[in-house]
Amino acid sequence: MTELVAVILAAGKGTRMKSELPKVLHEVAGQPMIAHVMDAAEMAGANRKIVIVGFGAAKVSVFIGERAELAEQKEQLGTGHALMQARPLLESFQGTVMVLCGDTPLLEGKELRRFYEHHAESKNAATILTALLEDATGYGRVVRDQDNQVEKIVEQKDASIKELAINEINTGIYCFEAKELFEALATIDCNNAQGEYYLTDVIAKLAAKGAKIGAVLAADADTVMGINSRVQLAQAEKLIKSRVNTHFMQEGVTIIDPDNTYIHPSVIIGRDTIIYPGTLLEGNTVIGENCCIGPHTRLSNVKAGNNCCVQFSYGHDAACGNNVTVGPYVHLRPGTRLADNVKVGNFVEVKNSWVGVGSKLPHLSYIGDADIGDNVNIGCGCITVNYDGKKKSRTTIEDNAFVGCNSNLIAPVTVGADSYVAAGSTISKDVPEGSLAVARAKQKNIDNWKKLTD
Ligand code: UD1
Ligand code: CA
Repeated sequence: MTELVAVILAAGKGTRMKSELPKVLHEVAGQPMIAHVMDAAEMAGANRKIVIVGFGAAKVSVFIGERAELAEQKEQLGTGHALMQARPLLESFQGTVMVLCGDTPLLEGKELRRFYEHHAESKNAATILTALLEDATGYGRVVRDQDNQVEKIVEQKDASIKELAINEINTGIYCFEAKELFEALATIDCNNAQGEYYLTDVIAKLAAKGAKIGAVLAADADTVMGINSRVQLAQAEKLIKSRVNTHFMQEGVTIIDPDNTYIHPSVIIGRDTIIYPGTLLEGNTVIGENCCIGPHTRLSNVKAGNNCCVQFSYGHDAACGNNVTVGPYVHLRPGTRLADNVKVGNFVEVKNSWVGVGSKLPHLSYIGDADIGDNVNIGCGCITVNYDGKKKSRTTIEDNAFVGCNSNLIAPVTVGADSYVAAGSTISKDVPEGSLAVARAKQKNIDNWKKLTD
């Protein structure tokens, strides 16, 4: 097969989104729509990608970075005009150009691959990916002649009553042989209802010349859905959610309520893990086997080993070993590392800290910038005082230390191995190994207080 280049049209404003953000940067399943389209293009086998930018070009270009080549369409004069902007980058290119739109986040790489293979095997000059829709409103219709050969595509606004009744629509996805494409593109005009250079007119030009044109029906019309409004954005989110959740269930993950579980496609989850309702697993989150996650838990870029239980909690950029229990009501902040068999629960916040094997932080504590050894017990209401108003300092709590309830550890400070901190202490000096530190006012009892004050 010939070389494949994908050109992604993404210069339109997306007026119906009513947004400052260019349409293709609106997110579905945690990624801008254009990223889903680039993923699908790569999976289809495109070894070059060109994105046509226009409205909000600066923002779109920053997002795309090195992932694709860019061409700018300064004025949005239509899809045909948009594609022409790729021509300078494809001057000597002899292969196939696959045209995609940046607003179709549900595209599936394997379907695009089949579409491209069909185009190549049929030796067509152009192949259109089409879909059958009960309600074709808004889409271009595929018009065929008596022999069922594609004759042209007619836009909704230019269609006759007879053409409006056609329910085979143009998805806006095509494969073209580069030479034929650019020759035909150079001949289109803007004499139509919208005064635009329609890419779709290339089809009629090629058909008139007797070039071979094919049309392939999409296996699932949902996958080619174009997003024009926030209502459709939510529909896309729902469809991807269902696709992703179905995939995880097929791979051995129990999802109690798939309608209320939000997992990004990038997440990895081991077998026999159970996901309870109201859970969001985002970004590069990796969950091991036999875990219980949720209800009402959000994990972004969190790694958890096997047999972990996380409920009613939020974690981001953090990691846990095996057999770790988190929650209810825990906030794991960036840089938190919990070793095997750690327990963190009941209103505890942990930031940028290491917690060693088997250590417990069971209630109402703030642990920030700390290095906690193995088998440490942090009593209820302990605070690492890590910030003096100017700089952050670390607290070290060595193996087997026992920190009594309601203690403040003023960093930098070390609580030695096997030592004890008495409840209610404010520790500002290091505690030697094996000792007991008491740092609180002595209790004084005033006898007969009731009588004296009556
Ligand atoms: C287009 C097709 C229509 C098809 C539909 C599928 C044309 C004339 N019509 O219509 O047959 O059924 O897609 O969704 O092609 N864009 C630019 N520059 C422009 C105009 C558009 O880059 O000057 C980009 C947009 O950002 C978008 C894509 O092209 O990603 C499609 O544009 P849009 O205006 O949504 O086309 P439709 O009217 O939906
Ligand atoms: Ca569209």
